[in-house]
Amino acid sequence: MNAPWPRRPRLVAGNWKMNRTASEGAALAGELRALTAAAPRARIALCPPFTALAAVNAALAGTPLLLGGQNLHAEAAGAWTGEISGSMLAAAGCRFVIVGHSERRHGLGEDDALVARKLKAAQRDGLTPIVCVGETLLEREGDRTAEVLVRQVRACYEGLDADAARATVIAYEPVWAIGTGKVASPAEAADSHRLIRATLDRVVRPGLGAEIAILYGGSVNPGNAASLFASDEIDGALVGGASLEAASFWRIVAAAG
Ligand code: 13P
Repeated sequence: MNAPWPRRPRLVAGNWKMNRTASEGAALAGELRALTAAAPRARIALCPPFTALAAVNAALAGTPLLLGGQNLHAEAAGAWTGEISGSMLAAAGCRFVIVGHSERRHGLGEDDALVARKLKAAQRDGLTPIVCVGETLLEREGDRTAEVLVRQVRACYEGLDADAARATVIAYEPVWAIGTGKVASPAEAADSHRLIRATLDRVVRPGLGAEIAILYGGSVNPGNAASLFASDEIDGALVGGASLEAASFWRIVAAAG
């Protein structure tokens, strides 16, 4: 059984996406392992591809680094060729699972209802979901950022009790910032984080928004991490490209305090 998830922890998570084989992942985790002697304050998670989970988990043994999956199926088990359940991730050593990443929403057709089911499936299977929300460039330019974020948060959190909601992490990842080198400014990210917290207050319980860690994701790198983390609204980062090399990921971890 996982230890209870603390109130609004600092978290830096690396989303490796479809990169790194098992042996490459073990090597990267090994390099990070050597750096943990520096005892960072932030919690750190690595989310490798499914095929690298076992090797990365072995390489992380005895370190405070945590493991996460990048996706799960909403059902517990059954005839779902090619899919992976939350209980399989938990058995592989995962503490976290990413749900609703924009590459799955927009590239693989996942809608709000499915993301909400995945959030609940993750919790059923003892995982802490990292729930991704974020607007596309078209939505931002059409002044629809607030509408989209409220809709995505509402779909996932409506009907959750405060304890269940508190046992999640949110990642605000504006789609236009992912993999583009175009990072949201700390003020833009903070505005969205405030809106997400206000929505949680309305949908779940007043005051709840202040208790949930909200990470920023989208072109975070060692050069911009510190200015993002300087905002009280930004509790950490979900890092893609810059998490694929130990040195750059660790500089982001170090910037988180
Ligand atoms: P990049 O850091 O490569 O922009 O990716 C962000 C992301 O999608 C993390 O989930």
